[in-house]
Amino acid sequence: MKKTKTIFFCQNCGHQSAKWLGKCPSCGEWNQFVEEEIRDVSPGDSPEAWFNEDPVSIDTIEADERDRLQTGIAEIDRVLGGGIVGGSAILIGGDPGIGKSTLLLQVMQKLAAGGLVALYVSGEESATQIKLRGKRVGASSRNLIVLVEVSLENILKQIKKVKPDIVVIDSIQTVYSSVLTSAPGSVSQIREASGRLILMSKKTGIPIFLIGHVTKEGVIAGPKILEHMVDTVLYFEGDSGHAFRIVRNVKNRYGPTNEIGVFEMRESGLVEVSNPSALFLSERPEGAVGSVVVPSMEGTRPVLVEIQSLVSENTFGIPRRTTIGVDRNRVSLLAAVVDKVCGLHLGNHDIFINVAGGVKLNEPAVDLGIISSMMSSFLDRSIDSVTVVCGEVGLTGEVRGVGRMDERIKEASRMGFNRCILPGGTASRDVLPETGMSLIKIDSIKKLPEHLF
Ligand code: TYD
Ligand code: MG
Repeated sequence: MKKTKTIFFCQNCGHQSAKWLGKCPSCGEWNQFVEEEIRDVSPGDSPEAWFNEDPVSIDTIEADERDRLQTGIAEIDRVLGGGIVGGSAILIGGDPGIGKSTLLLQVMQKLAAGGLVALYVSGEESATQIKLRGKRVGASSRNLIVLVEVSLENILKQIKKVKPDIVVIDSIQTVYSSVLTSAPGSVSQIREASGRLILMSKKTGIPIFLIGHVTKEGVIAGPKILEHMVDTVLYFEGDSGHAFRIVRNVKNRYGPTNEIGVFEMRESGLVEVSNPSALFLSERPEGAVGSVVVPSMEGTRPVLVEIQSLVSENTFGIPRRTTIGVDRNRVSLLAAVVDKVCGLHLGNHDIFINVAGGVKLNEPAVDLGIISSMMSSFLDRSIDSVTVVCGEVGLTGEVRGVGRMDERIKEASRMGFNRCILPGGTASRDVLPETGMSLIKIDSIKKLPEHLF
């Protein structure tokens, strides 16, 4: 006997409640509760009963780090920490039209061309539309199998029949289970569909990619638990107005996080960019006021990016702080430190900060760069175009050491920079002298203007 009951779900975080609530006690969002039906299913009903296995002793399980599946697209392998781990679930999110379907079709084509059976399940496009995209990106392998389907039960059945080596679900929001009556894309449907697909993947060892839509706030639509359920979460960054796309790893159970892969969207799909620093600096207005270059560690790789500031006097109202690519609160904090320590009165100025190329910087090592660019705009003096700056800044204006300084400096040197302003003290000990960089070590931002201009 099945019994049916309804529960109210917060559409933002997945919190459950027996009654409707205005404000979610878990995430604090208002008006997010929607009534959804849930049914208790007996385990025998569910298709993954087919995948049942017996318990085993840990020393009989075979596992090898080298068993990772290489996609052959170096930027994707890097983002995944060296390749796809068997039985792993990878969630990939990004704005509409940014290139999620294109990227995964290309990855599937590469794997299929290598002899693996790749199953591409789409609930968004018809087989003809997928074929048309496939023509553009050169996907034409016999082993690349396309399935247009939204029913979870049918998808699981087909996976059992086709026995693919890898599966893509485009997108998880379109999949729905007939066990539930709520609409596709609702919290309970997303949870049910992803839960059962991930279980299938764990039991069979077939890796699975789930494409997720993002909300206008930029997070993957559906409950936050979706991100907890999967092993790896990738996000597409960069705006669709530009040709380049950044895929960032924000969660990885089997490797480093924050690793990025850089691509360029061309007529024939996404093409890898192996020298991202050159790309991000390609449109830099040299000698412009407010512009500075910082070497930022993106995962295990140093990348040079340009930070731009516009500081202009605000004659009335509350001064604005608008940022793209860096944290707004961090900028407010740094502006206050500059005000207090250097006596530059940024308090009554609007501050706009942009990281060129749509990159998101979230390392404290870029603090000194943000401050330098604000000072440059405020004082209306440009920074030497062969200088890079790098360091974390504390509340008293002290410049703190950051990790992997020598790698950052090598990258800057490779890109033709010959001066680096960096933290004094222990962190700079490991800096290699042979790069030919002149290294200017400072302990406090008080000394920064005299070295910058
Ligand atoms: P798509 O992969 O459909 O995005 P998503 O699945 O994230 O919604 O990408 C669509 C965009 O990419 C669209 O604007 C057209 C562009 N595009 C190219 O520029 N070149 C190509 O070869 C392909 C396939 C798409
Ligand atoms: Mg798509």
